[in-house]
Amino acid sequence: MAEQAHQARPDAPVEIVWQPQKGPQHAFVTCPIFEVFYGGARGGGKTDGFLGEFARHAGRYGGDAIGLAIRRERTQLIETIERSRAMYTQIGAVFHEQEKMWRFPNGARLRFAYLERDSDAEAYQGHSYTRVYVEEITNFPDPKPLLKLMATLRSGAGVPCGFRATGNPGGPGHHWVKQRYIDPAPNGMQPIKETFKNPWSGEVVERERIYIPARVTDNKFLGTDYVANLQMAGSAQLVRAWLSGDWSVIEGAFFDTWSSHRHVCEPFEIPAHYKRLYAMDPGWNCTAALFMALDPETDTAYIYAEYCGIEKEPTINAERIKSLNKGWIPGVVDPASHVRTQDAGKKLLSMYRALGLKLREARNDVEVGIDMVYDRLSTGRLKIFRNLFEFRREYSAYRRINGHIVKEKDHLMDCMRYLILNINYAKSRSSVEFNPFANSDTEYRRNEGGGRNYAI
Ligand SMILES: Nc1ncnc2c1ncn2[C@@H]1O[C@H](COP(=O)(O)OP(=O)(O)OP(=O)(O)O)[C@@H](O)[C@H]1O
Ligand SMILES: [Mg+2]
Repeated sequence: MAEQAHQARPDAPVEIVWQPQKGPQHAFVTCPIFEVFYGGARGGGKTDGFLGEFARHAGRYGGDAIGLAIRRERTQLIETIERSRAMYTQIGAVFHEQEKMWRFPNGARLRFAYLERDSDAEAYQGHSYTRVYVEEITNFPDPKPLLKLMATLRSGAGVPCGFRATGNPGGPGHHWVKQRYIDPAPNGMQPIKETFKNPWSGEVVERERIYIPARVTDNKFLGTDYVANLQMAGSAQLVRAWLSGDWSVIEGAFFDTWSSHRHVCEPFEIPAHYKRLYAMDPGWNCTAALFMALDPETDTAYIYAEYCGIEKEPTINAERIKSLNKGWIPGVVDPASHVRTQDAGKKLLSMYRALGLKLREARNDVEVGIDMVYDRLSTGRLKIFRNLFEFRREYSAYRRINGHIVKEKDHLMDCMRYLILNINYAKSRSSVEFNPFANSDTEYRRNEGGGRNYAI
């Protein structure tokens, strides 16, 4: 494909203002599949690739080509718009600042927008686009708003519509992006088929998506200086992932010691002598609980069960947690973490206690808790069962911005901190059964000056 300067007279020599590079960028620009994810290494030519793809689409379908390009944050959007100026002004397109929209000489339109909150996607309901582009898709912790945007892909003029995303490993959406695009065919370039049944007509529709791996070595416009800059950019793991475009290196970038190879283990039956503890994070929208077993010989903590009740009645949450705590596993809770006031938290706690959960208030010092988790990860004394999908999803979204932890879908992450901070409340079944006060809500202290504490 070659985008040509529109001012050229038919008999004038063709001036090529942009053309895709050989390899993955070319594959991306010409790919006919409905949903395409072009991703991997940083600097592989993804942004140029998507801008070029729209220029090609616009050239083909003129006024019927309508595109929407999305980023997560406004500042990121400005960066992409700047790059589009360099390319599109040369082919005579005009940028309308107010609407953040390019209008091409043949009537095609490409609009830029950002979706800071997931609910912002609702503003696009009822719109029609022939292309939706999502840049740096791993910046989106949840696929739902993007799937909503996919529903805007339709054309009364019969233009073949498509969803095009680009992104790199790491970031809050790493886990779901990997699951959707990489895991089914890790080497990419292979269509992944999904079928849908129309509930009214019964008609079965097949949709295809594909992963096109981006490699920095395929971009001849970037040299070794760029690779050196990348090496200075983040944790060793993240840099490795960005250079090689390897999705298995990290699940999230929060703890740079994290390695799925070292910290994710196959589920096993918990031996009876292991100590147990669960942590709960109650909230009105989501109530989460995480269960831990501690091997007393190696001091290794295994996170082995999870519960996430989204908009569930407290009675349902309590029943589910009771079925996991088997009536004896002690629990800790931070009453203040996901509610607006301390008071509301206390109310939730007493409600759950009334529903039969034995809970004590957790110690919760965020930074100390993170340090303790870090320490355990570094020494291999914290492992997570492979089947805890919600945990691993949250883990990959767990991050800091300007040093502050982002409070977004982090219920199980909070639970992990409570577990590790309050690990000395973990008990083995036999010690609980021999404890005469095991069913009590109150602490009974004997010998205040350092004597044994019978509370669970
Ligand atoms: N086909 C091309 N023609 C001219 N320049 C190109 C082409 N493809 C990429 N480049 C240049 O290479 C550089 C990196 O490309 P681009 O920004 O598209 O990479 P990226 O994969 O989006 O990077 P990141 O991962 O940092 O977002 C840019 O300066 C871009 O203009
Ligand atoms: Mg880019």
